[in-house]
Amino acid sequence: MSQQTIAVLDFGSQYTQVIARRIRECRVHSRIYPFGVDAETLRRDGVRGVILSGGPASVRAKGSPRPDAAVFALGVPVLGICYGVQLMGEMLGGKVLPSAHREYGHGTLRFRAGSDLLRGIRGPLRVWNSHGDKVARLPKGFRAVASTENSEHAVVQDAARRFYGIQFHPEVAHSERGMDILRNFLFRICRCEPDWVMEDYVGTAIRQIRGQVGKSHVILGLSGGVDSSVAAALIQKAVGRQLTCVFVDNGLLRLGEREQVERMFRGRFKVDLRVVDASGRFLRRLRGVTDPERKRKIIGHEFIRVFDAEVAKIRRKGKVEFLAQGTLYPDIIESVAIDGNPAATIKSHHNVGGLPKRMKLRLLEPLRELFKDEVRALGEALGLPREMVWRHPFPGPGLAVRVCGEITRERLEVLRKADDIFISELRASGLYPKVWQAFAVFLPVRSVGVMGDERTYDHVCALRAVTSSDAMTADWAHLPHEFLRKVSSRIINEVKGFNRVCYDISSKPPATIEWE
Ligand code: XMP
Repeated sequence: MSQQTIAVLDFGSQYTQVIARRIRECRVHSRIYPFGVDAETLRRDGVRGVILSGGPASVRAKGSPRPDAAVFALGVPVLGICYGVQLMGEMLGGKVLPSAHREYGHGTLRFRAGSDLLRGIRGPLRVWNSHGDKVARLPKGFRAVASTENSEHAVVQDAARRFYGIQFHPEVAHSERGMDILRNFLFRICRCEPDWVMEDYVGTAIRQIRGQVGKSHVILGLSGGVDSSVAAALIQKAVGRQLTCVFVDNGLLRLGEREQVERMFRGRFKVDLRVVDASGRFLRRLRGVTDPERKRKIIGHEFIRVFDAEVAKIRRKGKVEFLAQGTLYPDIIESVAIDGNPAATIKSHHNVGGLPKRMKLRLLEPLRELFKDEVRALGEALGLPREMVWRHPFPGPGLAVRVCGEITRERLEVLRKADDIFISELRASGLYPKVWQAFAVFLPVRSVGVMGDERTYDHVCALRAVTSSDAMTADWAHLPHEFLRKVSSRIINEVKGFNRVCYDISSKPPATIEWE
């Protein structure tokens, strides 16, 4: 376990977690502390350096969040970013004033003097700003080493005391060479070694979960997707049989999906897994429904009822206090400062909307500091198979939005087989990781065909494969013709119910990824 910790003090910026993530990317351990943590705690934790994050407040405002002044007497390097540099300015004897105009967006950073923070980097750089105040007069001992058009003091330092300040955001991708600046802070100034690995996070997370949960019982809705699977594996490692996972089979899953989850979690991870076969209920409620939004509403509503009932059964047997969710950092919608305590006000996005409140359960969200790629790395570190960790996204309403129009058991059956052929072939040919999402769609249209000597009149299968980085925009994947020919021929020959296959060549926008 790495002993070198960089403390990130949280003043409420959305970027605090991004800073922590960048430090992990540099393979250094970082820990986020509430802004008011006392310096003695940091000393006891043996931190190698302190970063004061950005934040939405103004240091000139009464009651704005401040760190313990003794942080500056710890003898370790301190880096202030945005609000953090203004705090340094104000608390160390300089002066902070409002900027003539709020600096928001790109600026050009020009280097004025040599600095360890900028070592090995050549200016000018395009950097990303978001601030309304600036350090008008530097504290004694400080000097400016770089400036932008609007800010004379864009990078400042007191090299003797190892205090550094950056007015812009080096942690965001829009700031050129931002990572190199952070690397200089970590490796040249704090003298850290890049020895942190995701396996180390497992130990930290397990300790945190045990501390939070104590002897209580935890319930987790397992969907088989990456986030809930990783959360389940992690919590199981931390509290074992104090965790119960509930998997709802809504009848809208892909071929073999339920069995795969059972094998993995019950078999291999020895999780107390309750599988609820609710397919009958879901399909009954969906009978005759063709409108996509109505399908989604029915499925969401039904899920809550089924999950609720299962939790009630588990509760009857003992005390349950926590509902675990695989919320990731990007799911956390906003961070608004109230009463000067920004850390306490971050809101969560809940996959199963409103559940914890209704059930009077406390939330356990062990992945809330992580980004998707980190969750995948964590999944691998926990021993989940790559196939599970690198799965494509699958929508909550499942195949209901891939059987266009009315949903029947027969249609789902036909679609499952075709989808399985498409996905197996993608895996076999090595194309699976190259696309963002791929799936088959059942079209409620019949077309004429001929098979052997017989005329057929069957449904149409659409294949969809897209490339994307965030699902907001997507392009159709240019899959090789030979590959498509093989998949099409297998589907038509092996799946009774389809006699025609189409490949969707629409991008998003104007189309969407799903058909419904
Ligand atoms: P669209 O079709 O809007 O999809 O381009 C964007 C991404 O979201 C997924 N998706 C959903 N996920 N519930 C979900 O959990 C839904 O109702 C839903 N609809 C779309 C889709 O698979 C793609 O990854």
